[in-house]
Amino acid sequence: MVCGMNVERRARKERKGILVLFFFAASAFLSVSPVSPVSLVAQQPEAPTDPAAVERGGQLLREQCGFCHGTNARGGSGGPDLTRSTIVADDENGKQLGAFLHEGRLDRGMPKFDLPPSQLTDLSAFLHAAIYANANRRLYKILDIVVGDPKAGEAYFQGAGRCASCHSPTRDLKGLGGKYDPVVLQGRLLLPRGRVSPPGEPAPPLYTDPTAIKATVTAGGETATGAIVRLTDFEVTIYDSASQRQRSWLRNGDTPKVVITDPLQAHVEQLPKWTDAEMHNMTAYLMSLK
Ligand code: HEC
Ligand code: HEC
Repeated sequence: MVCGMNVERRARKERKGILVLFFFAASAFLSVSPVSPVSLVAQQPEAPTDPAAVERGGQLLREQCGFCHGTNARGGSGGPDLTRSTIVADDENGKQLGAFLHEGRLDRGMPKFDLPPSQLTDLSAFLHAAIYANANRRLYKILDIVVGDPKAGEAYFQGAGRCASCHSPTRDLKGLGGKYDPVVLQGRLLLPRGRVSPPGEPAPPLYTDPTAIKATVTAGGETATGAIVRLTDFEVTIYDSASQRQRSWLRNGDTPKVVITDPLQAHVEQLPKWTDAEMHNMTAYLMSLK
């Protein structure tokens, strides 16, 4: 499984603070009529009708999707802006969204999720509210501001976060502050899958990247490992970086045997552990690395 789904409840309290702020800002905006009614009336999506569902959905999004799609669904470095997704726009009460999440797009870095119908309805309510509120950029500024204590971030890096077991501020992470802006950096910190391409340059396929999720396929006594290009119930295709070739097998139940490994497992396991405070402190610390 790509995504750590066991959410730590202790993180909830702190997260709630920002969420409530968002929710207040959102409801303040939603209860006031749009500033320029003339231009908005025609294409205005429906206003959310169940504020409690919107709030629950927002919390769920922050916990399970926010690492990749941004805490406000407007996109992170790992995943696209969901308020511009046609799947989301066409969704009715979580039905289409649920069907999409059930499959995921593993080959493109989108994990699959099996969520109960009530949670799908909540997610859908939140996403539609986010589309509605999209007209007002002011709301999102509140969430994007990076505030944190770099000293506390450093302590977490060397201590509880165990980051120092794989990284060093003077070697691989040297100069990180000059490399990314804070929002992109926060995305890299959460799930550094793939490379950030310069603006205008198309990103290379994810399966060519060392951080791609791998599959080890065992068929007829032979074993092959490579980045996942496609993985469905019927087929597995991997990319062998040494030969730069793709190989495919048809799947039938457990044949051939497929074992999935993730080079970013440590980052994935850290995802549900982050609190807002720790994340902000770490971003401030990493931004200070020259
Ligand atoms: C590990 C990162 C990650 C997580 C976690 C994640 N996503 Fe995604 N998601 C992606 C990526 C990457 C794509 C783009 C896939 C592609 O290029 O087709 C995507 C695509 C999508 C799309 C399709 C957008 C479109 O119209 O093409 C939807 C909808 C979506 N995600 C919803 C969710 C929801 C809801 C959650 C939480 C339950 C979630 N995602 C969690 C990475 C993630
Ligand atoms: C078990 C090893 C491991 C641990 C532990 C780990 N990481 Fe990583 N981290 C990686 C790998 C692998 C990459 C991808 C490296 C690459 O793309 O070259 C990465 C990438 C990153 C990047 C992106 C660097 C860039 O240039 O884009 C940041 C930032 C980062 N990690 C921060 C952290 C922090 C902070 C922690 C602690 C909370 C942490 N990591 C814990 C293995 C680890």
